[in-house]
Amino acid sequence: MEINKVKLIYFSPTGTTRKVLENVAKGIAGTLVEHIDLTLPCHTRQAITPSPQELVILGAPVYGGRLPVDAINRFRRVRAGKTLAVVVVVYGNREFDDALLELRDLAVELGFLPVAGGAFIGEHSFASPDAPIANGRPDSVDLQKATAFGARIGERVASLQSPVTLTALEIPGKFPYEGGPRNMAVSPITKKDICTLCGTCASVCPTAAISVNDSVATAVKACIRCCACIKSCPTGARRWEDDTMKIITAWLTENCRTRKEPQLFGVEA
Ligand SMILES: Cc1cc2nc3c(=O)[nH]c(=O)nc-3n(C[C@H](O)[C@H](O)[C@H](O)COP(=O)(O)O)c2cc1C
Ligand code: SF4
Ligand code: SF4
Repeated sequence: MEINKVKLIYFSPTGTTRKVLENVAKGIAGTLVEHIDLTLPCHTRQAITPSPQELVILGAPVYGGRLPVDAINRFRRVRAGKTLAVVVVVYGNREFDDALLELRDLAVELGFLPVAGGAFIGEHSFASPDAPIANGRPDSVDLQKATAFGARIGERVASLQSPVTLTALEIPGKFPYEGGPRNMAVSPITKKDICTLCGTCASVCPTAAISVNDSVATAVKACIRCCACIKSCPTGARRWEDDTMKIITAWLTENCRTRKEPQLFGVEA
């Protein structure tokens, strides 16, 4: 089969998922790449309708072993008509649990034909230089693997006579899916003495939880703990002060030290 475009459709508050997808696309030679970034809130309900001549790479981070609810809601704007898809989740070196299975099932529900899947590792959203959890990942080794994965997907797609010859994509996991992010009404705080009111935090927040006027206000219930505001604040003024977040981060730092490697499905390793 010939494809004329690779479309990257993703939710990626701290950018690791986007980076992995870009590098998978790099391996699929000779095609245009288009980004559909669904991270920020958007008030249009207009459907996104990839064509059968495109290959879509759908990507999201793992939150509590599952897909983030906001990612699912935004992906539901996509209506595919037998478009080939690659499903990718990125997790912070703990586990991806049922998230990749959930993304494969969602892709099928949206009208895609999943051809391959991958679980990659990205720096944990809760990580910092003082509490490292997969810091700096995806690194150059991960990105080479992503590009090699893309190259094998390209070969597989080129060798397909028609989409009907595709066999079902097997992904590990359980249904009903287990886990999901903890229900916690917390958000990062702002250190007023070093905040310059630049507005960057508000501009990256996927749930529009932050407003910046003569101070920074956060709608705590809207916060999904993605840490985009913390990682993008130029002065380091956004941070966690919540004790439970500190305990979770310390646990992850202690228990998720052993490096995990990307796992790929649907193509030969
Ligand atoms: C609320 C929340 C829950 C998370 N749960 C998990 C998890 O269950 N397993 C894991 O390994 N990483 C987990 N992570 C880490 C992210 O999956 C990881 O940092 C990912 O690279 C973030 O993707 P992004 O850069 O595209 O936002 C979680 C992050 C957040 C914010
Ligand atoms: S990004 Fe940081 S410095 Fe800028 S407004 Fe937000 S908290 Fe203040
Ligand atoms: S306020 Fe919450 S949801 Fe918004 S960017 Fe910060 S951590 Fe993410």
